[in-house]
Amino acid sequence: MFKIAVIGASGYVGGELLRILSSHPGVEVMAAHSRKYAGDYVYRVHPNLKGTLTLRFTGEDPVKLAGEADLVFLAVPHGASVKVTPEIMELGVKIIDMSADFRLKEPSAYELWYGYKHPRPDLLGKFIYGLAELHRDEIRGADFVAAPGCNAAAAILGLAPMARSGLISGDVVVVDVKVGSSGAGGKPSPATHFSERFGVIRPYKPAGHRHSAEIEQELEFVSGRRYKIAMSAHAVNIVRGILATSHVFVKPGDLDQRKVWRAYREMYEGEPFIRFVRDKKGLYRYPDPKIVVGSNFADLGFEIDEHTDRVVVLSAIDNLVKGAAGSAVQAMNLMLGFDERTALSQPALHPV
Ligand SMILES: NC(=O)c1ccc[n+]([C@@H]2O[C@H](COP(=O)([O-])OP(=O)(O)OC[C@H]3O[C@@H](n4cnc5c(N)ncnc54)[C@H](OP(=O)(O)O)[C@@H]3O)[C@@H](O)[C@H]2O)c1
Repeated sequence: MFKIAVIGASGYVGGELLRILSSHPGVEVMAAHSRKYAGDYVYRVHPNLKGTLTLRFTGEDPVKLAGEADLVFLAVPHGASVKVTPEIMELGVKIIDMSADFRLKEPSAYELWYGYKHPRPDLLGKFIYGLAELHRDEIRGADFVAAPGCNAAAAILGLAPMARSGLISGDVVVVDVKVGSSGAGGKPSPATHFSERFGVIRPYKPAGHRHSAEIEQELEFVSGRRYKIAMSAHAVNIVRGILATSHVFVKPGDLDQRKVWRAYREMYEGEPFIRFVRDKKGLYRYPDPKIVVGSNFADLGFEIDEHTDRVVVLSAIDNLVKGAAGSAVQAMNLMLGFDERTALSQPALHPV
């Protein structure tokens, strides 16, 4: 049994990590860290885990806890992770960081997109971007992984085949994201108050979304080309889920369904958590976040718009699973030598 510590375990991502890890046959969660709830049972904060986890939160020093584990998940906000990560790295413990602190390779990108000077730019190159579909072999040999951002994961999975196969014409791709309330984490704010949040389609970041940086970095990784991501994000009236709708302009000769299908098949053939959704019948003819809730699946699809030489790429994930804890456990499985699907193969809920 590998020993796992989860720091930030009282948050939404921490809770989802605990839920998924509780059904993993090869790991044991030895510590769930929370400053606020130290001493309380985990199920007080994550009531869905009552009868599943008898653990109590601990408030011990995260670095000390990490030292007793084989692998530690840091499910804390960006800026908080980098305060403890360098010390943990020296202990020889594997790390999966859920925050943005180690996702970007370029130090100046932190000033541009996050508004802070990265305190340890020397460590950025030591982390592998934690999306198995793009970095499987590197993750397998990695000690340190930076899990992707939720909106970024949706957009990257949808766009990577288009970028990799050279189907994108021009340098700009428009990405429109709709995200549920859990994407903002568990900490309440005026914007998440029920009266203000219920029923919204709120454009919370029409321009300048931070995840643009990750998407640009990873599309460059698969294609060797630097695209500009013109991203707009909306908060919508669901708890879990993201739909990324990307508008890709192509050359008229590339407006060919078979070419587009080939790009997706070539990249994702055999991928355990990628599903193609493009049906002529039924209610769910395109990817829909409602259909992936609670699962690690990314549902991908597209439609061709001959009128504007456009391929509309649709990508749906559960932000807390494929967009966070699920991708992270998938990476953990690779790092620890398990079958990548372990603890992740449950289907989504329906109806929700
Ligand atoms: N929500 C998503 O869909 C999603 C998806 C992908 C990635 N992420 C990333 O995953 C991380 C966690 O997100 P979340 O949604 O779970 O947020 P959250 O619900 O706000 O939880 C974060 C937890 O971290 C702990 N924490 C807060 N500030 C801290 C600090 N300065 N030092 C140590 N611990 C601190 C808090 O626990 P205590 O106060 O109890 O210690 C809190 O419960 C973030 O970096 C986020 O960007 C989130």
